[in-house]
Amino acid sequence: MLRSASMPNSLLPIRINDLRLVKGNRAVLGGLDLVIEESGITVIMGPNGAGKSLLLRCLHGLITPDCGAITLGSLAVANSRDEQAMVFQHPVLLRRTVLQNLAFAAPEIAKSAPRHLVQALESVNLADRADQPARMLSGGEQQRLALARALLSKPALLILDEATASLDPASVLLIESLVKTQSAMGTKVILVSHDQGQARRLADEIVFISNGQVAEQSSAKQFFTTPQTPVAKAYLAGEILF
Ligand SMILES: Nc1ncnc2c1ncn2[C@@H]1O[C@H](COP(=O)(O)OP(=O)(O)O)[C@@H](O)[C@H]1O
Ligand SMILES: [Mg+2]
Repeated sequence: MLRSASMPNSLLPIRINDLRLVKGNRAVLGGLDLVIEESGITVIMGPNGAGKSLLLRCLHGLITPDCGAITLGSLAVANSRDEQAMVFQHPVLLRRTVLQNLAFAAPEIAKSAPRHLVQALESVNLADRADQPARMLSGGEQQRLALARALLSKPALLILDEATASLDPASVLLIESLVKTQSAMGTKVILVSHDQGQARRLADEIVFISNGQVAEQSSAKQFFTTPQTPVAKAYLAGEILF
């Protein structure tokens, strides 16, 4: 079934309550509260080590927090996983061809509608690479394949963790364009980016994380024109490296 922007998203609102995660003897998520109500694209920004990746991993069910609750719509994380997809900074691809990577991820589509896999490759400009080993692709091509794979399941929630960091500009723009299209079709997108240009191009909403807490949550327009917290101001001014 195709999503549409007018359809309610079954995983909204996302409610994160008092999320705590201890690594070593340090609280890397320190009672983080966050509610994401709106569809569209939420960009998570914040200094290195702030807890952005760990937050996304908790949301995607890859880490169980020490304390706290997450609900997506009426679902707990564990029951929402089939409706989520995540793209990482470094894609994990199988030692198989490009097309086989998609077929492995979506065996039912491969069986009943293999044409859809080819269309998925076309959407990321990789149709002519279908029979090449996936691990021979360039970084940007590998990430485009990872995105095509993530979108096969038509997720209600798409999570990207620095998915375009250090990619070639053409791949970055193609991925941004696909993310925007997917969002317009009703998929909720949450992405971490250090790239202020990208955040300005994509974000409807910004969540700024610092020290394992949400320091600021606002519309992208407000965040970039009048950030409210000293840490966000310093970050935007380039005074905090990443
Ligand atoms: N497995 C781990 N063991 C110990 N510390 C960790 C582990 N994973 C992450 N951390 C620490 O938790 C903090 C937040 O990490 P992370 O969420 O990856 O930050 P970022 O905001 O840069 O994505 C960092 O200080 C990181 O060093
Ligand atoms: Mg990270």
